[in-house]
Amino acid sequence: MGTFPRLGALLEKRFTLAQLPTPVERLDRLSEELGVSLYVKRDDLTESVASGNKIRKLEYLLYDAREKGCDTLITCGGVQSNHCRATAAVAARMGFACHLILRGEKPAIPNGNYLVDRILGATTSFYSREEFENLHEIERNTVATLERQGHKPYLIPMGGSNATGSLGYIRMAEELAGLPEPFDFIYCALGSGGTYAGMMIGLKHHGVSSRLQGVAVCDDVAYFEAEVKRILQEFEAWYGVTFPDGLFDMNFDDRFVGIGYALNTPEELKELIRIARLEGLILDPVYTLKTFLGMTRQIREGVVPKGARVLFVHTGGHYGVFPKGEEIAPLL
Ligand SMILES: Cc1ncc(COP(=O)(O)O)c(C=O)c1O
Repeated sequence: MGTFPRLGALLEKRFTLAQLPTPVERLDRLSEELGVSLYVKRDDLTESVASGNKIRKLEYLLYDAREKGCDTLITCGGVQSNHCRATAAVAARMGFACHLILRGEKPAIPNGNYLVDRILGATTSFYSREEFENLHEIERNTVATLERQGHKPYLIPMGGSNATGSLGYIRMAEELAGLPEPFDFIYCALGSGGTYAGMMIGLKHHGVSSRLQGVAVCDDVAYFEAEVKRILQEFEAWYGVTFPDGLFDMNFDDRFVGIGYALNTPEELKELIRIARLEGLILDPVYTLKTFLGMTRQIREGVVPKGARVLFVHTGGHYGVFPKGEEIAPLL
């Protein structure tokens, strides 16, 4: 049943798109190196083309879109957005059209996630960083244009991060609750905050007491506190689910954004290569690499005691290594 009975019916309202539950695997060599018992939740294995965390959110968002009679999905992100690629993939699979509002320059030759978007038939429009500041206006105009063309659009926010999308990670917490032994710490990336928000609610809902730690790959602690609170408010306003004040601890670390969102130093990329060779696990340069760096630093700082059971949530993003080929190749 869970702590919040109203969530029960909401959690049923999904399409089955991802291969779930994803495996949990022990990283033996890293465990020894770090002095903890380190495991990885393989959410990079949720699907091949729509791989990563976003498909869990999209199971709920597409169900809602279909219930509302919509035929076209609109979403937004950077040119190399994993969320846009996953949305394009599930749109094609479920018979929706898909339009992507992309931040950045149109690449001369499609590559990485953007190549996959195009193969899947998503249409795209490009906006500079400055133009993207007016995202809400761009979204409204895109909706209006598609409506004039006779479509019924469904707008998915950046990263699929609203209450509906977060249901995917509330449900994921049930997979963690079903494991034989609990984890002391769980680490995940903070991009738009919906994965963290969902897991935070889900862990309470399913009675799991692990400490959830988010590592920011953009923005700062104040931004993510506000985003997670907004999602909690949406649960109340949209679904009548209320959470007692002070129920949740929000643990955010914003020291690992580094030189900026989607930018990497050679040292960071060297760590990506080292982990790939040590454990056969490829991290993506934008999200999971920086989260991994945050987790290992906290372990070394003693935030995580020796011998603790730690779970790293691999949220996918593999296609993101391809546009980084020129930066990675000299380090190989
Ligand atoms: C691979 C990957 N990991 C983690 C995240 C962060 O998830 P969220 O946006 O829900 O914070 C994203 C998306 O932003 C992502 O693409």
